[in-house]
Amino acid sequence: MESKLQRYPMEEMRTLRARVDSAASILVLTGSGISSESGLPTFRGAGGLWRTHRVQTLASLEGFSADPVLVWSWYNERRAAHAAAEPSAAHRALAALEARSGNFTLATQNVDSLHLRAGSKNVLELHGSLREARCTTCDARRVLDGPLDASEIEHACGGRWRPDIVWFGESLPQAVWARAVDAAERAEVVLVVGTSGLVNPAASLATRFARRAYVVEINPEETILTPEVALSIRARASDVLPELVT
Ligand code: APR
Repeated sequence: MESKLQRYPMEEMRTLRARVDSAASILVLTGSGISSESGLPTFRGAGGLWRTHRVQTLASLEGFSADPVLVWSWYNERRAAHAAAEPSAAHRALAALEARSGNFTLATQNVDSLHLRAGSKNVLELHGSLREARCTTCDARRVLDGPLDASEIEHACGGRWRPDIVWFGESLPQAVWARAVDAAERAEVVLVVGTSGLVNPAASLATRFARRAYVVEINPEETILTPEVALSIRARASDVLPELVT
């Protein structure tokens, strides 16, 4: 039987494996590509969310203010799709890699909670998550254990419940961002998995802040980050990451 390793330059996999095995500190940055293998759409790929929906309408404060019912119906749909999805072999491999690595941080742009469901522990959700809603006025929080109905959007304080997501034009949660930058600056190896690298500041974790790290990109396609990394492996996440923990 042909081993998966043979599909990629053996040399690349050997290099990656050796670097990961000897690294005292690892940062992994993930994007929607890692969840595409769980059946969830990416944003900019074929059939991607931003190909079929208007960003300004659905992922901005202005869009929410203009039509909160529409925004909530979209996030309710996404939350249901996340709940119905299962972590992929790639998600599980990262949880296994964390379990055997000394200093390991996983910074994700994804809001689908699949890393946590795969068993990852030190997860930084750079763009928030769909597990909670928060009030636009008093910042109160509530757990989302089902769809939020249109009749529930108004909060008693006069504010509105909104998804606990970072929308375009908004800043990342400060404490989470500070921990991600710290992890990038300490990292000896940075794995960039399943992201186009088009959104900042998340992408800068793999470039500007990872100054001392050996940065490896895993993506079936070239990205804006490809010229800036030490090694770029043209492959799907679940064809490479499990090889690092066998
Ligand atoms: N394995 C690895 N990479 C994959 C796979 C796979 N199986 N399938 C697709 N990819 C890659 C694509 O080639 C693409 O480069 O995943 C990337 C997905 O890119 P985008 O659709 O741009 O998504 P992402 O990088 O996560 O977007 C960043 O943009 O819209 C905002 O907040 C949103 O967090 C999101 C951010």
